[in-house]
Amino acid sequence: MTELEFEYLRNFLKQRSGLALTAEKRYLAESRLTPVCRRFGIASLGDLIGSLKLAQNGAIERAVVEAMTTNETFFFRDRIPFDLFRDTLLPEALARNAGRRRLRIWCAAASTGQEPYSLAMLLQEAGPRLAGWQVEIVATDLSTEVIEKAKLGLYSHFEVQRGLPVQWLIKYFTQVGEQWQIAPSLRAMVDYRQLNLLHSFASLGQFDVIYCRNVLIYFDAPTKSDVLARLAAQLTPEGALLLGAAETVIGLTDRLNPHPKHRGLYGHARPAAARPAEMVPPLRVAAGV
Ligand SMILES: C[S@@+](CC[C@H](N)C(=O)[O-])C[C@H]1O[C@@H](n2cnc3c(N)ncnc32)[C@H](O)[C@@H]1O
Repeated sequence: MTELEFEYLRNFLKQRSGLALTAEKRYLAESRLTPVCRRFGIASLGDLIGSLKLAQNGAIERAVVEAMTTNETFFFRDRIPFDLFRDTLLPEALARNAGRRRLRIWCAAASTGQEPYSLAMLLQEAGPRLAGWQVEIVATDLSTEVIEKAKLGLYSHFEVQRGLPVQWLIKYFTQVGEQWQIAPSLRAMVDYRQLNLLHSFASLGQFDVIYCRNVLIYFDAPTKSDVLARLAAQLTPEGALLLGAAETVIGLTDRLNPHPKHRGLYGHARPAAARPAEMVPPLRVAAGV
């Protein structure tokens, strides 16, 4: 791939998925796109970029975008965001929404489903407290390939050994040949849809809890700001947004604030008067005014 071809690829990916591919990641592009060439019978990476330029084959374009996404995920990833859900966010939402008995959760970059299914297991464990409630988990991802795998809920031995307590493997999964499939009742709890975070998601409606973890890290600052501002618009007034450990809202949007106690948890920014006294910044008096 020439310098110019790599430059074309970077712009293409930035526009299609938001991926900010740095110059040092050229090796990554080459290793991930070589199998795409093989799949479509294309002789070289240069020819692959050439076919992107012609913009005549949507299947090749989608395959390039999907090949460049990083789909790493596992059950109860980082643990704390899920403990927080079970111990704080869920009880608070149940109290707050007791009148309408409706709870909406969105996993905005759900990959192969381990994140939404982790939440579904926690909800099943909450049992009778949710009787009579309408609970929705919407799980979206840019990649149709990961969405298809998530819908099937079929995981390898390696995948079910990552983060999933063994008693929940026995309780919620059935062995199917070499793989494990999550229970139909849990699969039915998650509504999977293909969705690009660069596009409008206003039609999804508002959510009590949004997990948007480990995807903003791949975007540049203006893209992060744009996505965060639009995520804020989908959060109910007391709603909670969870980001990945390496992600933040600081310096990117004034619509969301970090929670003072829980790392990775964000909520709507409040006007100064609504914040507890210790969070109100002191008045700055300009000399001579
Ligand atoms: C590293 S995974 C994170 C999965 C999960 N949230 C977690 O933290 O374990 C990132 C996911 O973001 C998806 N993704 C990348 N760009 C996206 C975009 N523009 N819109 C929606 N999803 C995107 C990728 O397909 C991938 O599945």
